[in-house]
Amino acid sequence: MELENKYILAVDDEEDIREIIAETLETTGYRCQTAADGSEAIEIINRDAEQIAAVICDLKMPQVSGDQVVQFIASNHPIIPVIILTGFAQLDMALDHIRLGAFDYLTKPFKVKELLLTLRRALEYRQLKEEQAKYHEFLEAKIKEVTAELNNSVIQSVGALIMAIEEKDVYTRGHSHRVALYSSLLARTMNLTQDEKKDLEYAALLHDVGKIGISEYILNKPGKLDNVEYEIIKSHPSKGVKILEPMSFLQHLLPTIEAHHERFDGRGYPNGLAGEQIPPLARIIAVCDSYDAMTSERSYRQPLAREAALTEIKKCAGSQFDPEVVKAFVMTYDEILATIP
Ligand SMILES: [Fe+2]
Repeated sequence: MELENKYILAVDDEEDIREIIAETLETTGYRCQTAADGSEAIEIINRDAEQIAAVICDLKMPQVSGDQVVQFIASNHPIIPVIILTGFAQLDMALDHIRLGAFDYLTKPFKVKELLLTLRRALEYRQLKEEQAKYHEFLEAKIKEVTAELNNSVIQSVGALIMAIEEKDVYTRGHSHRVALYSSLLARTMNLTQDEKKDLEYAALLHDVGKIGISEYILNKPGKLDNVEYEIIKSHPSKGVKILEPMSFLQHLLPTIEAHHERFDGRGYPNGLAGEQIPPLARIIAVCDSYDAMTSERSYRQPLAREAALTEIKKCAGSQFDPEVVKAFVMTYDEILATIP
């Protein structure tokens, strides 16, 4: 191990010992800083923690003693190894300090060779800990990356399934993708966090997944649905939850998916939630979903003109929709229009 420039802090109230340690370390190739008591040591550590490679610390000092220094390092800079210097009579205490986090101890009077050997072991131990931490960090990042890739590909597959279902019907073609696109534009206007943006994108893409469980006859029926058929259509948010439930990484999105047809005034379905009871991301999807539905052609009606659909959205602020989301929708409207061919 390269010793040059390794910065060691030596703390002892006896000047002779400080000098011996400093001289020994410097002739061996270390850089050494000394402190005459615990409070001076803590001050130096606070200033130089990033550079200090190890601390050699006397246990018995007036005022701020060695055990306070050991505790301070253990709680604030646990990576710095501490070697305790102790009299033979304090051996029990030294062992207690090792339990507290000190690396090792030396009994006074110690041999220079012994000091250098213990210090070298301490530095090697520190290096090992740093490498372990780095490796751990690398592994965690890798696991996160692979999991995200995996989750994303599952969502893309489910998204593809939804698209395939929408494809069969000219009137719903591309609906979920457009809702996801409008939602992501709104997310930017509403300053959502990165995590919320990702969740919103996924939830918007998957919001109608429950339609997989509804018969095509009802989904594509031209003309008005009868009461029974309407009740079946209304079951698609809960059916979506059932379909996605086995995917543990989507658990936190289920309440949003279930609530995308709730109304701000409590008159929506399936649970009649109102206002703040409705998950915030569901309130965003609701607006984008309705806008896309209104501006798309249906088997039983022509699409509403874009401006008329916007007027309708504004009119429903506070009744069907969260007024804050409507405000954001209006602010984002030009960007939304730009995405429509
Ligand atoms: Fe829906």
